[in-house]
Formats: sequence, C-alpha cells, structure tokens
Amino acid sequence: MNVTIVGTGYVGLGTAIMLAYLGYQVTGLDYDEEKIQGLRDGILPIYEPGLAELLTAASPNLHWTSRYEDAIPQADFIFVCVGTPPLPDGHPNLAYLESAVRSIAQHLDGKPQIIVNKSTVPIGTGDWVMRTLEEHAALYATSHYEVVSNPEFLREGTALGDSLYPDRIVLGGSGWATERMRALYAPLIEQNFEAPAHVPRPRGYERPALVETTLTSAEMIKYSANAFLALKISYANEIAGLCECVGADIHEVTAGIGLDHRIGTRFLAAGAGWGGSCFGKDTSALISTGQDYGYNMPILRAAMSVNARQRSLVIEKLQKHLRLLKGKRVAVLGMAFKPDTDDLRDAPAHDFIARLCQLGATVVAYDPVAMPRARTEWGDLHYLEATSAHAALEGADAVIVATEWAEFRSMNWNEALCVMRNRVIVDARNIIREPLTVPAILEQIGRDHPHSSFLPASALPADKVGA
Ligand SMILES: NC(=O)c1ccc[n+]([C@@H]2O[C@H](COP(=O)([O-])OP(=O)(O)OC[C@H]3O[C@@H](n4cnc5c(N)ncnc54)[C@H](O)[C@@H]3O)[C@@H](O)[C@H]2O)c1
Repeated sequence: MNVTIVGTGYVGLGTAIMLAYLGYQVTGLDYDEEKIQGLRDGILPIYEPGLAELLTAASPNLHWTSRYEDAIPQADFIFVCVGTPPLPDGHPNLAYLESAVRSIAQHLDGKPQIIVNKSTVPIGTGDWVMRTLEEHAALYATSHYEVVSNPEFLREGTALGDSLYPDRIVLGGSGWATERMRALYAPLIEQNFEAPAHVPRPRGYERPALVETTLTSAEMIKYSANAFLALKISYANEIAGLCECVGADIHEVTAGIGLDHRIGTRFLAAGAGWGGSCFGKDTSALISTGQDYGYNMPILRAAMSVNARQRSLVIEKLQKHLRLLKGKRVAVLGMAFKPDTDDLRDAPAHDFIARLCQLGATVVAYDPVAMPRARTEWGDLHYLEATSAHAALEGADAVIVATEWAEFRSMNWNEALCVMRNRVIVDARNIIREPLTVPAILEQIGRDHPHSSFLPASALPADKVGA
C-alpha cells in the first residue's frame, strides 16, 4: 500500500517514518522546499528523541517531495497533517488545510483513495473536506474517495513510543474506508512488527483499543481529550495555589489524589501550566465551537484562565523578592514548552522573557535543544543566549526554571547557585528536590521546599539575599 503524508511537521514526519518502518512505501510531501531538501539529505527539521535512528532504519521506504503531482496520484492513503494554528478569536486557522485539500483534489486520479484527517480539525471538518474534494476534484466519484478522521494523540518528546504503542486508535468514517484503515494499521493493531531496538515495546503492553465511530465523534474525541488533559493540569495548579495559602504540599496532595485509580497520577503536575501547540489551541477551539452553537463551556474557560494566571504567578513570585526588576539579570532555564522537544509554540518561557524585558530586566536564556529554533521564531524577544545552564546563572540576580529538562533536574544546584550574584530561584516546574546548603530563596509552586534552610522564602529581605 502506498501512503502519502501531506505536511511533514511534528505529526506528519513521525507518522511518515513510522509507516515506512512498518513496511509501507511512504511519500512525505511538504510545500516547504527547504525542509524537503533537508529530509532528502537525511536532516530532520525537528528534534524528537529516537526519530533520527528510525529515519535511518526506514529510509529505503521513504520518499520526499514538494510537488503534489508526484505524491497524490499513486497514493492509496493520503494523510493530511498540516498545521491548524489558532486565530485571534480562538477558532483554528483552516487556511493550510483548505489549500492542502484543494491541491490534493486536483491530483486524485479516479482510483479508490482515502483521505485521512490527522490534523486536529473543528467538528464537521470531515464533511467539509468531502465537499471541497467534490468541488475541486476533476475525476471525482463519490464511491472512489472517502474521508476518514484519524486523530493523533502523540506527545512530543515521546512521539515514537506513543505512535508505535498507542492506547487507542480512533477511526471516524464509514464503510470500506475504515475497513481499509484497519488493514493499514494491522501491524499496530496486532502488534506483530519487530519493535525497534531503541523504542522497545513497553512491558505488559499488548495492543491498542480500536475505536470505530463517525467522523463527527472522532473529531470530538480529539478535542475533548486534549481539553480534559488541559483542565486536569489547571485543576492541579488551582489546588497548588490553595496549598500555598494553607501550607500543604502539592506533591503530597496530588500523589494522594492520584492513587485513586479513577483519577490517576498523570497530568497532575503543578507548575507553570501547559504550553505547546495543542492544549491552548484545542481548548479554545472547543469553547469557540460551543459559542457557535450558543453553548457556554464555563469549565473550559476556567481551565484557560487558571493557565494564564499561572504564568503571571511565576513573575509575581520573582517580584516578591527582587521587587524592582529594572537593571536585574534574570536567567531563564528552558525555552521549549516541555522537555525533549525543540517546539517553542505557546511556551511559558516566551511569556516570561517578554514580561521580564517589559519590566526592564536583562534576560539570559538557555535551552539544551531549542535555542537555534528560538533564533528564528522568537525574533520579537530580546535576550542573551547562554552556552550552558551554568553560564546562564553567572552573575544573575535570579533564575526561573521554565522547562523541566532532565539536565536541570540532575544539576548540582548547590554548586551552580554559587556563581549567582543574588540567589532567588523560582522553580516553576518543582524540580529541585535536593536540600539547599547555600543561602538562597527558593520559590516553588504549591509547596515550600522542605529542605531549604531559609524557609519561608519570603522571610528574607531582597537586599539580604545571596552570598
Ligand atoms: N504537535 C503535536 O504534538 C500534535 C499532536 C497531536 C495532533 N496535532 C495536530 O496535528 C496537526 C499538525 O501539527 P504539527 O505540530 O505537526 O504542525 P507543524 O506546523 O509542525 O507541521 C505542519 C507542516 O505542514 C506543512 N504545510 C502546511 N500547509 C501545507 C500545504 N498546503 N501543503 C503541504 N504542506 C503544508 C508545513 O510546512 C509544516 O511542515 C495540527 O492540527 C495539530 O493540532 C499535533
């Protein structure tokens, strides 16, 4: 079976490489010619752990092009994986999708072909894609083309494991198309492929659940899943705020909550809140869809506002101790919205840097992988780049831990803090667990650091902080 993937970003690239690894002939199509040329040369445009190794293993089955005429006519399955970023009113921008679907339509060749929506699209988009094909395909015959919704649930940073060993596969559509999708995904459904050495099958994992449903319900599943995860994080953050008021420890509280199997421990980490290209966008999209139908969604609105408050809170914690930020040097550790990715979309660090600059601080930022991408995508920000976490801390008055990279977790904080001018730490990801033996003010989210020798942190006047 021939597969074409339209849009070779975080989702499309992973899908293309995974399907090629499973043995299909796969063509990755992107209108970004530079990206395609890089892929032909074996250069990945994104950072995703393990993807380079899988690309090498699957490369005999992979082809890359920027021309629709080279990729659409021969394809049995055409996966649409283009971006659907948010518009200012919260609705997703469907311009990329529309342009991709129109281009696909022009090159359909009259044989049975399945158009698979993997992009996260508003409810009803599957039907709209079908109509767009009808309008623009020269050789259109309803019995030959079918649209299936197959939402993607991968998480950046663990995309390969999520794709090869998913919890569930959702197929929305009808008739022969979902049947052929089942055949395409048979190796995943049966789990009869040889697991790549660097992405082993998790112990105890058997096979994914298969959810076959309508186009509309599949689209709804994707949005509702993301919005639920977003509100779970916001719930933890809201409880963290109250923990700070009453002197409880959010770690212990969420551990205690999560042991109830109905709740579970995942997505209950209090911190700087969610970021990335999906949670905010998809939650806003669901709220906007509700608005289109005159249906209010107060729980989701609250999840969004708690997330925004969380970002402001981080700067407020800094201000509490430094008071004036003008003329202060602040290190920001981590720029990507989460560890193990270079994705900067809606990253809390962006808002921190923007706000710090607005308040007159000098920002020195460091991220293990996302700095090259930030040079092109964060042109609106003014900050200095550091070559290491240690270099970022040198001479700084304060540090914000914005992303929970393993490198920051395992750092010797007592040693690292010694190079700072003043030692105010806002650990917005609650990663510092070791006892602090040097004088410092440490702010975490929803808890007082139990080993800090200077608790409560607010007890130290700003001018007495530091060595
Ligand atoms: N990133 C994630 O973690 C994730 C997870 C699940 C679902 N999704 C959804 O998947 C979709 C894609 O997300 P992404 O993060 O991969 O986006 P992305 O921006 O990384 O990639 C999109 C790619 O599509 C290409 N493109 C855009 N218009 C095109 C066109 N008309 N023809 C050919 N190529 C075109 C772009 O050049 C880009 O390479 C979105 O709807 C997103 O919500 C993303």
